[in-house]
Amino acid sequence: MANDLLKGKRGIITGALDENSIAWKVAEKAHEQGAVFVLTNAPIAMRMGEINALAEKTNSKIIPADATSIEDLTKLFTEAQEVLGGKIDFVLHSIGMSVNIRKNIPYTESNYDYFSKGIDVSAMSLHKMLAVAKKMDAISEWGSVVALTYMAAQRTYPFYTDMADIKAMLESIARSFGYHYGVEKKVRINTVSQSPTKTTAGTGIKGFGDFYDFADSIAPLGNASAEDCANYCVTLFSDLTRMVTMQNLFHDGGYSSTGVSSEILAKMGEE
Ligand SMILES: NC(=O)c1ccc[n+]([C@@H]2O[C@H](COP(=O)([O-])OP(=O)(O)OC[C@H]3O[C@@H](n4cnc5c(N)ncnc54)[C@H](O)[C@@H]3O)[C@@H](O)[C@H]2O)c1
Repeated sequence: MANDLLKGKRGIITGALDENSIAWKVAEKAHEQGAVFVLTNAPIAMRMGEINALAEKTNSKIIPADATSIEDLTKLFTEAQEVLGGKIDFVLHSIGMSVNIRKNIPYTESNYDYFSKGIDVSAMSLHKMLAVAKKMDAISEWGSVVALTYMAAQRTYPFYTDMADIKAMLESIARSFGYHYGVEKKVRINTVSQSPTKTTAGTGIKGFGDFYDFADSIAPLGNASAEDCANYCVTLFSDLTRMVTMQNLFHDGGYSSTGVSSEILAKMGEE
């Protein structure tokens, strides 16, 4: 389905690790819609090499960058503009990592070095990216930045541990920076709050499989897939949504507005 929604637009897409990654699907969809972009990920993720296949498929260059490093991010925005031939029109922030989750540490016993690392990688990286871009004036007017988040920022999901607090910070950065960048350059910044999705980051969370099924049986439309999420991101990068900014947008098949479903009640023998 190509209708050139992003024709003439230049982008930076972070976070494509393998073909399950939400960012991978965003890259495929953005390519289909006529965008040109660079792909980036942490140097350590490059070693797995899978991103090369995506680069080939979408005709894009890979620029390694650790999203916590101002130096790497400066290089990323500099080289991306050189490679793409102008200012950047859209950025996807699709970066998440919690060492506390990886090591299965309960929330109340969080290790604070790991907590700080999680904040730096998964939330502050958005601030750093935006600060670098703003200083360099690297994003064009009416440009669009989208960061991926999860509803644990609003409601408690015990297994999501420190990432719940980190996502709350990410969403707040999108609002706060969205104000300043909006006033100065009309750059818009939103977060997309996505359904549980079977990716490396998602399935790394304890109990993910059961929770995935639970969410699927609550959401009237079922869980939103990575591919659907990519389509939504494409609309947010496009000019059709140019007055949308500083929002946390739920992309979850209606899950966030549903208290309980008949399916869940039936399973509990209450219906
Ligand atoms: N999978 C889900 O259930 C789900 C639900 C809602 C939101 N999200 C969010 O979507 C985003 C993408 O995750 P995903 O599910 O596609 O998993 P993923 O594991 O495919 O992607 C996470 C990416 O973050 C990258 N990353 C980690 N540290 C980095 C660093 N220092 N610098 C640059 N990149 C780094 C990884 O290399 C990886 O590509 C994350 O923000 C995640 O929290 C995921």
